[in-house]
Amino acid sequence: MLDRIPRIELLAGPTPLERMARAGAAVGHDGLWIKRDDVMSLGLGGNKVRSLEYWLGEAATTGGDMLVVAGAPASNQCRLVAAAGARMGIETLVLYAGDEPGALGGNAMLTRLFGARIRWLGPVTEVERGRRAAQVVEELRAHGRRPYLIGNPVVAALGYVRAAQELAEQVGALDLRHVLLPGSMGPTEAGFIFGSAVIGAPWTVHLVSVEYPEEELRRRVATLVKELQARTGIVPPKDPMATVRMDMDELGAGYGVATSSSRDAAAFFATHEALVLEQTYVAKTFASLLRQVRQGAIAPDEPACVLHTGGVPALFAQQAG
Ligand SMILES: Cc1ncc(COP(=O)(O)O)c(C=O)c1O
Repeated sequence: MLDRIPRIELLAGPTPLERMARAGAAVGHDGLWIKRDDVMSLGLGGNKVRSLEYWLGEAATTGGDMLVVAGAPASNQCRLVAAAGARMGIETLVLYAGDEPGALGGNAMLTRLFGARIRWLGPVTEVERGRRAAQVVEELRAHGRRPYLIGNPVVAALGYVRAAQELAEQVGALDLRHVLLPGSMGPTEAGFIFGSAVIGAPWTVHLVSVEYPEEELRRRVATLVKELQARTGIVPPKDPMATVRMDMDELGAGYGVATSSSRDAAAFFATHEALVLEQTYVAKTFASLLRQVRQGAIAPDEPACVLHTGGVPALFAQQAG
């Protein structure tokens, strides 16, 4: 459905859809599934690989000759941009907020391993980081380079419009009723919600907030959904936001702060399914699944699937910290 939009293929094919039989048996629900966007061949995988397919597509059409991305050292996105740059043979500059630490761990260590040039911006706010990134891009242009700044959220969301269609094809005759994913900045969520609405998917999308209050999350996602409609020219048959459910019960003390239920979920799915769940996004999403199944909010006869958005390397820095 997005055939006219430039895309560079980074995924070898659909990511696995697996049944979580042991976890399901332990909680009395035999229809628990996982869509494994943590299993991809590029750079240890994760949701940003799907976004990168469209970011790189846009970079190619605009004649970009290098990639620039800004983020925190814990950023999965920066790691995957560096990985894509390495695979495609495109020079990559990563601007990290903060001062250079004595040793790099987790995602930042991999970013350097993939050969990206790293510049440390010092302790800057998110707004200042964005301003500095725009400035660096201008300076590069003045020196004759054609940098592509990674991050446009509507382009990022296109990857998950495709993912919704991919999941629908994989589930086939299974009447999947619930899909859970982390609720954060919005591109992954908006793409998946828009894509689900376009194909008339039967499932309710649950956004498990890991960052913002409910209204802010809803506003971000709804805005992106509208922008996707403008970008693709596709009008979904029903309001995509109508069936979305927000789960605010796993946010705890806020972004990046583990909770007792996120730690319990990480331990439960590690011991029952050998899954690796980092604490910022994924463990809280799985905690929501466990809670809703145990409380009966997700009934035993309603198949449910969690979208594992990756972020596995972040765990190593989280454990060390
Ligand atoms: C592992 C993981 N899951 C979820 C998200 C949230 O995605 P989005 O920014 O599209 O809301 C991120 C964002 O970096 C992530 O790294």
